[in-house]
Amino acid sequence: MTAGSACGWAAVVLGVVCLVLQFDSISCNFPMFGTVNQSVTFPIASSVPFTEILWTKNRDKVVEWEAGSPVRVFPPFIRRVHLDTTSGSLTIFNLTYSDEADYKLDSLSSGDTLFTLKVIDPLPSPTLNCTLAAEDITVNCRIPESYSFTQLLNYSWNCFPALCKNGSNMSEVVIKRNNDLSQEIRCTVNSPLSKQTSLLVLATCVPAAPVDQYFKMIKCIVTKLFK
Ligand SMILES: *[C@@H]1O[C@H](CO)[C@@H](O)[C@H](O)[C@H]1NC(C)=O
Ligand SMILES: *[C@@H]1O[C@H](CO)[C@@H](O)[C@H](O)[C@H]1NC(C)=O
Ligand SMILES: *[C@@H]1O[C@H](CO)[C@@H](O)[C@H](O)[C@H]1NC(C)=O
Ligand SMILES: *[C@@H]1O[C@H](CO)[C@@H](O)[C@H](O)[C@H]1NC(C)=O
Ligand SMILES: *[C@@H]1O[C@H](CO)[C@@H](O)[C@H](O)[C@H]1NC(C)=O
Ligand SMILES: *[C@@H]1O[C@H](CO)[C@@H](O)[C@H](O)[C@H]1NC(C)=O
Repeated sequence: MTAGSACGWAAVVLGVVCLVLQFDSISCNFPMFGTVNQSVTFPIASSVPFTEILWTKNRDKVVEWEAGSPVRVFPPFIRRVHLDTTSGSLTIFNLTYSDEADYKLDSLSSGDTLFTLKVIDPLPSPTLNCTLAAEDITVNCRIPESYSFTQLLNYSWNCFPALCKNGSNMSEVVIKRNNDLSQEIRCTVNSPLSKQTSLLVLATCVPAAPVDQYFKMIKCIVTKLFK
């Protein structure tokens, strides 16, 4: 019952399924993401107070605690974790790529809960680029190639459907050149942990119109005359 309530709560929050295993124990495996150099918290909400807690990383001890004793932290987590002995939640600070692993809470009070941690880079801002064709402008939303987690990303555009047609993939839209190009469009990139938005004024995609150039020329002459 107690195992079920802890898992059940987390499952509601994280939208993940628990598997009922033999011995009537319940095991959940929650995917978690953390950003390198930042922190991550494995959330636990037990309905009963803990009397002892053990967190392991791939079976190695991370923290251990028993009621009445201080929390014991094991390398390489010394000064890098916080155990909330009330909720059972574990926080790891200053994440490194080598923290990527399976973390398990072992406790008689709450049953076992497993988290699979993936450590990713902070999401960079996208750059918007356009390519011109006779009738169309294709706008591309790119994340720098140095970012190695592109398979976790999705893209969205704020752009009226009448203006923007889907390109060959989510990171691309196609716009007819005869539209009002004074508008700007925005691309938002979502990672599991954050999002970044960049914008582009469509007019910057097309060469300045002859009329604009004419006005610029006049302005230039006038400026020179009055200097
Ligand atoms: C993480 O922190 C280290 C040391 O402070 C730094 O060298 C590194 O660039 C940081 N990485 C990222 C992705 O912020
Ligand atoms: C570790 O994280 C703490 C809190 O998030 C931060 O204040 C500190 O600068 C970080 N240390 C390093 C070496 O990145
Ligand atoms: C895309 O934009 C970057 C700068 O934002 C520029 O250096 C690059 O040449 C552009 N690429 C294309 C194909 O337009
Ligand atoms: C364009 O993509 C969006 C989101 O992926 C989708 O809902 C929509 O139906 C697509 N429209 C066309 C014309 O393919
Ligand atoms: C979308 O398509 C363009 C061109 O076809 C390609 O360069 C780009 O890598 C693709 N992006 C994604 C996220 O698949
Ligand atoms: C895009 O990713 C975010 C975070 O990973 C998610 O919340 C959102 O539902 C995703 N949207 C689509 C259309 O897949």
